[in-house]
Order: sequence, then structure tokens, then C-alpha cells
Amino acid sequence: MIKIIIFIKFLIIVFIKFVEIINKMLYNVIMGKFLYKNITGLHLELTTKCNAMCAMCNRNFKGKIRDNLEITELSLEDCKKILTKEFLKKLKLISLCGVFGEPVVTKDLLEIIDYIYDNNPNVFIYLFTNGSYHDTKWWEKLAKSMKNGITFFGIDGIGDCHSLHRANTKYDKIIENAKAYISAGGRAQWDYIVFKHNENQVEDAKKLSEELGFEKFNIKKTSRFFKSLYESDSALDSTILPYGHHPVYNSNGNIKYEIELPDNKLYRNSTEDIILKLKKDYGELNNFFDQVQIDCQSIKTGGIFISAKGEVYPCCTVYQQVCYGSFFGVTDESELNEYKYSINENLSAFNKSIKEIVEGTFFKKIQESWSKKCIKDGKSKSCCRTCGNIYDSHSAQHS
Ligand SMILES: C[S@@+](CC[C@H](N)C(=O)[O-])C[C@H]1O[C@@H](n2cnc3c(N)ncnc32)[C@H](O)[C@@H]1O
Ligand code: SF4
Ligand code: SF4
Repeated sequence: MIKIIIFIKFLIIVFIKFVEIINKMLYNVIMGKFLYKNITGLHLELTTKCNAMCAMCNRNFKGKIRDNLEITELSLEDCKKILTKEFLKKLKLISLCGVFGEPVVTKDLLEIIDYIYDNNPNVFIYLFTNGSYHDTKWWEKLAKSMKNGITFFGIDGIGDCHSLHRANTKYDKIIENAKAYISAGGRAQWDYIVFKHNENQVEDAKKLSEELGFEKFNIKKTSRFFKSLYESDSALDSTILPYGHHPVYNSNGNIKYEIELPDNKLYRNSTEDIILKLKKDYGELNNFFDQVQIDCQSIKTGGIFISAKGEVYPCCTVYQQVCYGSFFGVTDESELNEYKYSINENLSAFNKSIKEIVEGTFFKKIQESWSKKCIKDGKSKSCCRTCGNIYDSHSAQHS
């Protein structure tokens, strides 16, 4: 009798292992791989320079530019080296945004845009900006260079209210620049990040955007307050105050005031409720991340990210997570898997082709990590957070 029970137990274990293996195999087949031939979208960070000091931007920490952020940018010559004509021809979409900088500060921006269109007149360019740099003459030139592409102006309020988040930018100057750009034929959208301090101005700003000729007014429901729900490292500003509050510092490192989530639920990212529920169900979000299945947006959409140093990553999220280890000073081990995978990897498009990097070991290690048992075992937390198949806080910013 005992022998039969042991044998049945053995069969059950074998069966569970078998199901796990088939599950992993099917998952990898369905998910596909990072393949150069599938790339059609590029998120390009042209610079880590910026004229502004937005409180929730990761380039800043306690009111200053993060100590070890390398201030750099790609020149036209650099772009010609890393963005070959053959590569540009493949692309349908280029997003000039980035993680640590303001694209419009890039010295050769207009020439770089012209180079891109010269090699692929059909590509669609999105440009993201705080709009507060350069004079109106420059913005008129940008309108010509951008052709059919769209510029997103980040304007988080009317008048002085705007600069409570977007410090060091001037509302009047942005509006002047946007007007000059639109009058010269440029296509523009207004991105409005909603906070408690500007939620009462949303409707007025929308009306104004129509009067000024913006094609669209996007309400952006930030997900950046949620960091404190799963990240506890003191190397991040977002973890210093209680949930829903974020500090704004003066240059001496003292808190000047706090910015807060909006009260109106309509302006809050829908992921908030999911995260709070998951925390209740799983105790800690890491427990949920351990078991969540990853549905990689970059593989699905054929996207890659290139940093201002010319390094190639699957997406901006993984890039930022690698930076947690390389220069943010984050010590929480659960946040460092992506960084560890990047050590000894050469991700520079100056030294290797984009194809070699995309189909190389770093991208493979990131993908293999999705089948690991848990974050402690090496699963990439940034992937769980962004592409875990229950929620996508990033996309929900625009819903
Ligand atoms: C680092 S910025 C680079 C582009 C440009 N400097 C800008 O601010 O638009 C990347 C993106 O972060 C967004 N961003 C900045 N602060 C944010 C916040 N608190 N919540 C959500 N998105 C934010 C910007 O609007 C921009 O789309
Ligand atoms: S303008 Fe963009 S890059 Fe500059 S501080 Fe603000 S969010 Fe960061
Ligand atoms: S976060 Fe991870 S899973 Fe999501 S797009 Fe980037 S690489 Fe893919």
C-alpha cells in the first residue's frame, strides 16, 4: 500500500514538472524572441542634458542632478554611425523622448531629424519636450524639419501652476514657442500630467489647447507615485514621503513643498486600484511579481531603446532599471537583476551592430529571466512591473 502511495506521489510530481516544462516551451514559442528583423520602432534618447528640474524626473535626486549621471548627447555624426541607413529604412516609428534628458537641448537635433527623414521619408517621428528651451525662430525651423511628425509639449498647468512640477521652465515662453511652432505648420499635442495642484485647471487648459491649435489634449495619469508601493530604497526620491506625496526640493536638499496625486479619481491611473488590491492579496508586491507571466511589449511591437551613450536596450524601463545598479546607488537586491545581467556586456552600438546586440546575450538573459521561479532567482522586476500580464501601469497613464 505504502509503495503504491509513493508511486502515485512520484507520478504526480513528474506530471507537474512535465506541465511546467510544456508551459515554458509554449510560452517561449508564443512569446517569440528579440529579433533584429522584427524591429520597426525605436525609442531614442538623444541627450541626458536638460534645462528643467522636474521633481519626479529620474535625472534628479534631492533637488540636484543625480551625482553620477553622465551628461552626454548624440551628435549628428554619432547618429550617422549608429543609425545606419539600412536600419532607418526598417523603422515605422521613432520616439525622440528618453529617460534622463530633454531632446530639444540636443545641439544637432534639427540635422538629426533631417538625416532620419532623408533615409526614410515615411517614418513617423514623435518628439517629447518641455518646450521651454530655444527662441521662437528655432521652433519655426523645427516645424519645417518635423514634417508630418508630432511634437508633444509637456505643460502641467496654466501660468505659474505649471512650474510647480516642471521647475525651471517658464509657462509664457512655452506658449510662445508652441504658438510659433504651430503657426509654422508644426503638428502639436498638449500632454498634461494631472496632480492635486493642477486638477482644477484641466478643463481650462483643454479649451486653451484648442484655441492655440494643438491637435489633441492628452490627460496624463502619472504612475510615478506608485513606486513607493513596491520600492523602498532611499536612493529614490519617491520613497521618502508617504504614498501619494512626492517631495520638491530646493538646491540645498531641503523639502520646499510636496506634490500630490489628484483627488479626482478620473485623473488617477487605473493601475492604482489593482496594485492596492494585489498588495492586499499577496502581502507584498514582490510575491505577485514572482508568479506573474510576462507579456513583453517590445517583442510584441518590435521596439528597442537606444540611450544617449548609444547603448541598446529592449526598452526604456530595462535601461532605467540597469541604471539603478550602475549609478543610482540602489542597494535593494530585488531591484538589481537587470543591472547584474548588464555587467560585462557591451551594449554600445558604436562597437557592435544593433543586430548583434538585440540577438546577443544581454537580451537573451532578460528574456530567460521571465521563466525563473522568482525575483530572488533572477526574474527581472522591471519586466514584472511593466509587462506583467495583469496590469500595465505605463500604458494606463494615457487611458
Ligand atoms: C524624461 S522625459 C524626456 C522628454 C522631455 N524632457 C519631457 O519632459 O517631455 C520622459 C517623459 O517623462 C514624462 N514625465 C515627466 N514627469 C512625469 C511624471 N511625474 N509622471 C509621468 N510622466 C512624467 C515626460 O512628460 C516625458 O514624456
Ligand atoms: S523636462 Fe523632461 S528630462 Fe527634463 S527634468 Fe523634466 S521630465 Fe526630466
Ligand atoms: S519591461 Fe521587459 S518585458 Fe516589458 S518591454 Fe521591456 S524588456 Fe519587454
